[in-house]
Amino acid sequence: MRKVLIARDSGKSIGFIIGDNSYGGVSFISWLGVVEHYRGLGIGSKLLNTYEDFAISCGSHLLELFTFEKVKPFYQRHGFSEIGRREEGYYGQKNLIMNKTIGKWNENYLDRR
Ligand SMILES: CC(C)(COP(=O)(O)OP(=O)(O)OC[C@H]1O[C@@H](n2cnc3c(N)ncnc32)[C@H](O)[C@@H]1OP(=O)(O)O)[C@@H](O)C(=O)NCCC(=O)NCCS
Repeated sequence: MRKVLIARDSGKSIGFIIGDNSYGGVSFISWLGVVEHYRGLGIGSKLLNTYEDFAISCGSHLLELFTFEKVKPFYQRHGFSEIGRREEGYYGQKNLIMNKTIGKWNENYLDRR
């Protein structure tokens, strides 16, 4: 199931995260974005942390995403590690594939949401 979280300021949408949660215990984050004027205020971090909490509540053990070189430090600060790359991936760009362990694989895992 796809999960979308939106950050708002006085009713205006200023950031979002989209995740496909969750298949086989892996939650894939497909997009995270914050309106330029609002960047550097912790909104991206809050969206990521909130999504992580949601994924944990679903029983996921792993978060996965792809990103670009300049955003890699942001995800590293949030505990993600690079596990591979596509030299010419989405948008013809180099895609870094990153993941973060958020729990233990559960043999009794069921897709709950
Ligand atoms: C990456 C992004 C979501 C971070 O959101 P944010 O609200 O600025 O994040 P936070 O305020 O929680 O954290 C800011 C950190 O992100 C980094 N950052 C800010 N703007 C950035 C940008 N345009 N590109 C890369 N990193 C950026 C800063 O270095 C900052 O690090 P610091 O805390 O050490 O100073 C936001 O910059 C963005 O929307 N970028 C464009 C879209 C994008 O690249 N999304 C990720 C695709 S997978």
